[in-house]
Amino acid sequence: MQDYLEANKGRFLDELLDLLRIPSVSADSKFKGDVRKAAEFVRESLEKAGADVAEIHETKGHPIVYGEKIVDASKPTVLVYGHYDVQPADPYELWTSPPFEPVIKDEKIYARGSADDKGQFFMHVKAFEAMMATDSLPCNVKFMIEGEEEVGSDNLGTFVAANRDKLKADVILISDTAMIANDVPSIDTGLRGLSYVEVEVTGPNRDLHSGVYGGAVANPINALAKMIASLHDENGHITIPNFYDDVIELSAKERAMLEAAPFELEEYKSDLQIEDVQGEAGYTTRERASIRPTLDCNGIWGGYIGEGAKTVLPSKAYAKISMRLVPNQDWNKITELFSKHFLSIAPKSVKVTVTPHHGGQPYLTPLESAAYKAAEAALAESFGKKPVPTRGGGSIPIVALFEKELGLKTVLMGFGLDSDSIHSPNEHYGLFNFYKGIETIPLFFKHFAELSK
Ligand code: BES
Ligand code: MN
Ligand code: MN
Repeated sequence: MQDYLEANKGRFLDELLDLLRIPSVSADSKFKGDVRKAAEFVRESLEKAGADVAEIHETKGHPIVYGEKIVDASKPTVLVYGHYDVQPADPYELWTSPPFEPVIKDEKIYARGSADDKGQFFMHVKAFEAMMATDSLPCNVKFMIEGEEEVGSDNLGTFVAANRDKLKADVILISDTAMIANDVPSIDTGLRGLSYVEVEVTGPNRDLHSGVYGGAVANPINALAKMIASLHDENGHITIPNFYDDVIELSAKERAMLEAAPFELEEYKSDLQIEDVQGEAGYTTRERASIRPTLDCNGIWGGYIGEGAKTVLPSKAYAKISMRLVPNQDWNKITELFSKHFLSIAPKSVKVTVTPHHGGQPYLTPLESAAYKAAEAALAESFGKKPVPTRGGGSIPIVALFEKELGLKTVLMGFGLDSDSIHSPNEHYGLFNFYKGIETIPLFFKHFAELSK
């Protein structure tokens, strides 16, 4: 195995760079053809790696790539999930090299999608190829690589529900999260859920002269700003009634376990060039960003934003708001609580509408499962250090749906770093992380096959 990996390293990287050159931005219809090209690339790479089945499934949106290799029906099956779509690359001018022309700088691959998630799911394709080539695949493997993760996985649920038999497996394995550091391996044992809404505030029926009417007629931007500001109290708690009702509080022991993982607040602040952090009273920075729910304004607009000044009292104001949720919050219920509350705090002088976008449920991985133990053993073997359990702050909404539809638990064996700048300009992925992932994945298969006996 080691010999095969060493001998083929250069080609693995070249192939990933080819995949990164395809601008598979799922959010922007301009890239629809490229998204399909990326799907075809993935299908072909699975076929070449030795899959018996490697097919493209059409959906109402972007295609899903499915592949499988059944070595022995009596052996356990690992279902690998990943996504070949990427976030939009804007703002382009902040990239030091073009987002879809990957370059290697300081031992890192710079390109949109390098860490999220092309560089990570491709490690599984290459690890599979290596196990096939060295005749060491110890269990069955299935691949489901989708093209709509970054836009809410709208069509994956339908595919999963319609293909329960095809997707039969013992565990789902995903590399689409981060570790603490290259010398501190860790495993995310949970994901936050998400409720994403858009709000519209309407004042007068048309834009007005801010001198003629200002002071007498509600300004929807002022009203919206006040409403948004009121959603947190002075302790950083969210003020929506019943928002915290279903939140599971961690035990002191669980909190201590998570706090045992290394974290440097000074480094955190200097990396972000901030003088101070903020957040909910009674919780640490790391807890605020993982085990606690949040409410954030993602975008806000209205009125005149062109060059110079225009004295206008605008007719409309808008905002996009996301809430990150934790076990046992339900995103549909939270969306309803938000809507009800937001409408209730609107002054009579404006009209407010709330439009839900998408969402997903939070998720927890059981630490006693054979699959979690296999991931732990695999990382311990390849890093020479036992991984620490952590809780991730991001969301992969489809993971909770896999549990509901397929009855399967997920192990999040991610090899990225929080500093990879995913969704930001200059996204990058370490060569160390790429190769370490390819080396660790076969070890997961080995340990999982043994522990499942
Ligand atoms: N890979 C990320 C999620 C992630 C990142 C989890 C880092 C844990 C650590 C995924 O591609 C993503 O960006 N998810 C979106 C949700 C989706 C509905 C757009 C998110 O978290 O905002
Ligand atoms: Mn991702
Ligand atoms: Mn993402």
